[in-house]
Amino acid sequence: MKAPGKQMELKDNLFNRALFGDDFKWGVSTAAYQIEGGHDAHGKGPSVWDVFTAKSGAIPSGHHGNTACDFYNTYPQDIAVLKELGIPNFRFSLSWSRIIPAGTGEVNEHGIDFYNRVIDTCLANGIEPWVTLYHWDLPHELDLKGGWANREVVEWFKEFVQVCAKAFGDRVKYWMVMNEPMVFTGAGYFLGLHAPGKKGLNNFLPAVHHAVLAMAEGGRTLRSLLPDAQIGTTFSCSHIEPYTSGRKDVVAARRVDALLNRLFIEPILGMGYPEEDLPVAKKLKKYMKPGDSGLMQFDFDFIGIQNYTREIVKHSIFVPYLNAVLVKAENRKVPLTAMGWEIYPPAIYHMLKKYAEYENMPKLYITENGVAFPDTAVGGKVNDPERIHYIKSHLRQVLRAKEEGVDVQGYFVWTLLDNFEWAEGYHPRFGLVHVDFETQQRIIKSSGHWYKAFLNG
Ligand code: NOJ
Repeated sequence: MKAPGKQMELKDNLFNRALFGDDFKWGVSTAAYQIEGGHDAHGKGPSVWDVFTAKSGAIPSGHHGNTACDFYNTYPQDIAVLKELGIPNFRFSLSWSRIIPAGTGEVNEHGIDFYNRVIDTCLANGIEPWVTLYHWDLPHELDLKGGWANREVVEWFKEFVQVCAKAFGDRVKYWMVMNEPMVFTGAGYFLGLHAPGKKGLNNFLPAVHHAVLAMAEGGRTLRSLLPDAQIGTTFSCSHIEPYTSGRKDVVAARRVDALLNRLFIEPILGMGYPEEDLPVAKKLKKYMKPGDSGLMQFDFDFIGIQNYTREIVKHSIFVPYLNAVLVKAENRKVPLTAMGWEIYPPAIYHMLKKYAEYENMPKLYITENGVAFPDTAVGGKVNDPERIHYIKSHLRQVLRAKEEGVDVQGYFVWTLLDNFEWAEGYHPRFGLVHVDFETQQRIIKSSGHWYKAFLNG
């Protein structure tokens, strides 16, 4: 019985960073609202998340990001941890309302200073900054004018992109215009579960169209101001399978796939919205103006793929527009994370293959992959072998896709620090580093030590 164990160990030792090639980018990803805190520090304006979390009942736990991981103050120590772990690339986002408190107009120099210090501290430690311009924290003032449902948001966003490109473009080479537009439009403008808590198609559809236009316009703005920069954007994606091979389930799965995995990338690639497989997308025409098809398109230098799981889809007559439901992982007797998501490593392989199949798809990076478990600190240590296993088994699937010719050039773990997980609050812990939210004490988890060994091996 001992021999197979030995063999596994050997295989594990052979699985190392070198297999991915010298140029492969390794990193961790974070987002402003989830870690910074400093919600009203030094002239920052409120974002939709500040306002949403302050509403009683909006977030079931009542949690908010007012202090979060206090990264606004602790960034020197946290970047020192990155250095200690030998993590060469750090992805973080810029808080729009820290930089332009009302979303448009006056710039807050304290906000610019903060990100200058973060960027400079990274560079001084030999860490490459990867900047996301929009990770869901729209300035509240813009929400009062309709937010993403108002077409003017494209101009407001362009102004923000210009300010950031001019302030940081001399040092930041890697830019991501948006983070997971499907999630902030779906959860924030259709389901009402995320800020700003809006619901229904009349909010969702214009938000989708304006997010597509803003993403492409953001790309064009960066390219014109920073011709040498690497410009990308990121998408959430889940591998979709039908519950049965029956026609109804298969068609329902195709609809959900079109919604979750194709609604944003296809217009960006110049293919328009996936109306054939997602009939409700035909209603987007109402928000389109002449010339929009061209404006929806942009040749990004890279696309960021963010994958965590797969979804199983069943036909249902009770869900309007979609006629489909996701079969909950907890009802499928499969291994689960603290988010209730199925652990299914081949999903990341399938998503890489799927995106790589599009004509004109640029190079891909995995800009997020990771897992929440109920980690606990015992005697100053956090032992999380399940996270090590999760990351390793997903990396094997990334390598499998790469070896089959997919142009995937990097992998970023979500995330560095346990943090504010949106509607779920602080309960799900995704970090390589444990955070005690009372004391702000950090403990590098065994997964953090493993990542260090893997990167330096
Ligand atoms: C996607 C989002 O970009 C990030 O903000 C979130 O925390 C992780 N996935 C985990 O849910």
